[in-house]
Amino acid sequence: MDKNFYITTPIYYPSAKPHMGHAYSSIIADFFARFKSIDNYNVYFLTGTDEHGLKIQRSAEKAGMHPQKFCDNISETFKNLSKTLNLSNTDFIRTTEDRHKKTVQYLWNELEKNDDIYLSNYSGWYSVSDEAFYNEDEIEEIDGKKISISSKSSVEWIEEESYFFRLSKWEKPLLKFYEKNPEFISPESRRNEVISFVKSGLKDLSVSRKTFSWGIPVPKNNNHVIYVWLDALTNYLSALNYSDTDDYLFKKFWPASIHLIGKDILRFHAIYWPAFLLAAKIDLPLKVYGHGWILSGEEKMSKSKGNILDPLEIIDQYGLDPLRYYLIKEVSFGNDGNISQERLEDCINSDLANNYGNLCQRVTAFAIKNCDGKIPSQIKFNKDDLLILNKYKDNLEKIRLKIDEQNINFYIDYIVNSLFEANKYFNDQEPWKKKDDPIRLNTIVYTTLEIVRKVSFLLNPIIPDSSLKALKMFNLSQKDIKFESIKENEFLSKGSKINKIDILFKKIEKKND
Ligand code: MSP
Repeated sequence: MDKNFYITTPIYYPSAKPHMGHAYSSIIADFFARFKSIDNYNVYFLTGTDEHGLKIQRSAEKAGMHPQKFCDNISETFKNLSKTLNLSNTDFIRTTEDRHKKTVQYLWNELEKNDDIYLSNYSGWYSVSDEAFYNEDEIEEIDGKKISISSKSSVEWIEEESYFFRLSKWEKPLLKFYEKNPEFISPESRRNEVISFVKSGLKDLSVSRKTFSWGIPVPKNNNHVIYVWLDALTNYLSALNYSDTDDYLFKKFWPASIHLIGKDILRFHAIYWPAFLLAAKIDLPLKVYGHGWILSGEEKMSKSKGNILDPLEIIDQYGLDPLRYYLIKEVSFGNDGNISQERLEDCINSDLANNYGNLCQRVTAFAIKNCDGKIPSQIKFNKDDLLILNKYKDNLEKIRLKIDEQNINFYIDYIVNSLFEANKYFNDQEPWKKKDDPIRLNTIVYTTLEIVRKVSFLLNPIIPDSSLKALKMFNLSQKDIKFESIKENEFLSKGSKINKIDILFKKIEKKND
């Protein structure tokens, strides 16, 4: 049977250039996409930019540019970042594209047809920075300025004619849905947050604005533009050509397997989005995962706080794979994490250079010298060899399950332990003392090469380039990487040449070393 996996990142506001927080969401999504793809799933991995709304309109005005031109420029930097981060995305959507506008208007018509939209007047608090409406009890006053308690961004009072979505009508169905689908919102702490918010009562949601024009017009009433969050969330459907009801992509990939987002935008994804979908009679996504923030000092990184870390600078200095590895390993997934250059350097030195890089270099150098530069053919596994090799086979199902629970910490710990164990195996077996027992020497080398192969397969979704560099020693390329083949203990083709490989990771000289 065909196995399909649809994963999305948030679509980013092109109001300023990308920062580490954006890179983090994208890299994590890429990790899952790559894992599923080597595990034989058809993967649709979507990312993109969210280009409408007052926030973008104002940023464009400030830059003295037409919003479209402004978005074209910054969206391009996000597209470039996807390439720089080596994302395996299938698609990059921009909400100013026709395919998207068409889908948003189609969805609007569906909601209207089902009597979920009506015209009235809105008055209340709005944060342009969050593009969000806040209730009176969600704001506070600091130094005479009204701000949102949760995001700390300033709010302004608006009063205007507006279309409303009957969100209140979906309060009970949503609660029922959360109860029946405990996996829908992860991690669990976030699920509880959402449930208690919904239980406290949902008010109908203003879904159009009349006082600015940078957005998708409401069908049949061009004086209004559609609320940017209704517009943005629909990107997950537009990419699959939802409005084309017979479309193969929609049938194949919807409902989404996982919307990966930062915890700041949980309410939109876990309340509004499922409510819109219920109202339009569309299946709900299987999961919304709200990850934590990358902190700079103690605070969330943001443009207004001026504490932004530029991923490009880190990549320039250390390379991409170390950054990917670091973010995946050191930010405990689901929680906030602080990024520190010192920890990044430790990761490079101990995990990547010493543990992985060294193992690859040692065993290839040894094989080139002692096994005629070939993958040994005459081998006979003993108990020790089989013990270490079979562990991979025995843990395969468990790893799959942990990935389906988004337990990245388990995955990375598994790899780190495997590398320790592999280095220990090579040391303990002392192949350099087995020169008078060629079969034993060959078997130790073969076993270690097999482990390098298996661990490189596991590392591939985290550090795609470096793992491929290592696998070049066996002439293996991306298409040869299949998760299932980690089970095999004699995958490597005996007698074939081992290629010399370049140093995978350079150790960083630390000042106090
Ligand atoms: N455009 C909306 C999302 C619409 S999705 C239908 C938006 N964009 S954003 O540019 O502000 O970025 C959103 C996402 O970037 C966050 O949800 C999060 O995934 C990521 N991050 C932005 N800053 C972050 C940190 N400091 N740390 C980790 N991720 C954060 O909201």
